[in-house]
Amino acid sequence: MDHIKMPELHIGNLTAKIPIIQGGMGVGVSLSGLAGAVARQGGIGVIATAGIGMQEPDLQRHFTEANNRALTREIQQAKVNANGNGLIGVNIMVALTDHESLLLTALDAGADVVFMGAGLPLKIPQVVTPERMQSSPTRIVPIVSSGRAADVICKTWGKHDCIPDAFVVEGPLAGGHLGFKKEQLDDPAYRLEILVKDTLDAVRPFEQQYGKPIAVIAGGGIYTGADIYRFLEMGAAGVQMATRFVATHECDADIRFKEQYLKARPEDIMIIDSPVGLPGRAIRNQFLNDVSAGQKKPFKCPYKCLRTCEFREAPYCIAKALINAKLGTLDDGFVFTGANSWRVNEIVSVQELMESLEQEYAAAVVVQKNVKMCAVV
Ligand SMILES: Cc1cc2nc3c(=O)[nH]c(=O)nc-3n(C[C@H](O)[C@H](O)[C@H](O)COP(=O)(O)O)c2cc1C
Repeated sequence: MDHIKMPELHIGNLTAKIPIIQGGMGVGVSLSGLAGAVARQGGIGVIATAGIGMQEPDLQRHFTEANNRALTREIQQAKVNANGNGLIGVNIMVALTDHESLLLTALDAGADVVFMGAGLPLKIPQVVTPERMQSSPTRIVPIVSSGRAADVICKTWGKHDCIPDAFVVEGPLAGGHLGFKKEQLDDPAYRLEILVKDTLDAVRPFEQQYGKPIAVIAGGGIYTGADIYRFLEMGAAGVQMATRFVATHECDADIRFKEQYLKARPEDIMIIDSPVGLPGRAIRNQFLNDVSAGQKKPFKCPYKCLRTCEFREAPYCIAKALINAKLGTLDDGFVFTGANSWRVNEIVSVQELMESLEQEYAAAVVVQKNVKMCAVV
């Protein structure tokens, strides 16, 4: 089975040998350690920018500069860790107040790909300029929750004569903030399979109009190599996975963060109303129980990091809670997760994880071939 390989992933003129993108995980869960390790194995390792300047001494006084400085450093370090392999991506949430400045920094620092979600990145051609978008080696990939969102982005960018080379379509089983209403999360109409098909249909006319392929990458609840096979067979060009990468030695969060995944049972995984104004998926703990019980965790907001955060009414500071979790102080924070963290039962290296996914993928190809042969016989 060793000869069965996953196909390469092409985003514009970039190529990842393995079509696996490690989804960006804030705050501080995917930095240069994890991203570099994933790229080293031939995938796309992604640095999350949410709260990236948290350990800069001047964050409160120079919020934007501190974040930009930390991002530049993490991109450089991730490239060193990748040792010339794979691609390094950056995840920038459109909901961040300094997202435009982070985007320009990522381009200057030579990130290979910038993934932009948590809001529609409609103004990007004006921020970057269409000329730079075309000439820059960095590809900008929106993260969407529907084919309709992909259509709106293509039409809006198209007014500036540019079009994304790829979209990530993220379904309701993903971790962190979710681009769905709470009642949509369990609705079969929003299953990832359906969203992938919708997005493939949405981008097809733009592929024809602009004469170039637009890769559709599926994310949210993809757990095994067999899952990867299933989505590639449906027409996805790659997958984005995050939950599995938390339980790796190289993940940049504290071991106590990772242990939450090892301990989680299905009933511990809950949907919260994040102060950002979106539902989020997290692992239940005392902090979240206190919040659910109406206990406010008073805070001052020194830098207003999120455009959509109503910090005067928010029951707690989500940035602080997530920083605490990354550092392992779970009494004062909580852990974001995808729907599948209850399946995680060991911490492995990124290399072991990627190899096991490749083996499972190859096994799924063989099973499918056998099924087809039996059908013919
Ligand atoms: C701990 C954690 C933090 C996350 N943080 C972000 C983030 O900062 N920005 C973002 O766009 N997505 C974020 N996500 C979503 C992931 O990038 C990814 O797309 C999604 O979780 C994929 O689903 P999976 O976890 O089931 O594989 C986060 C997910 C997790 C588990």
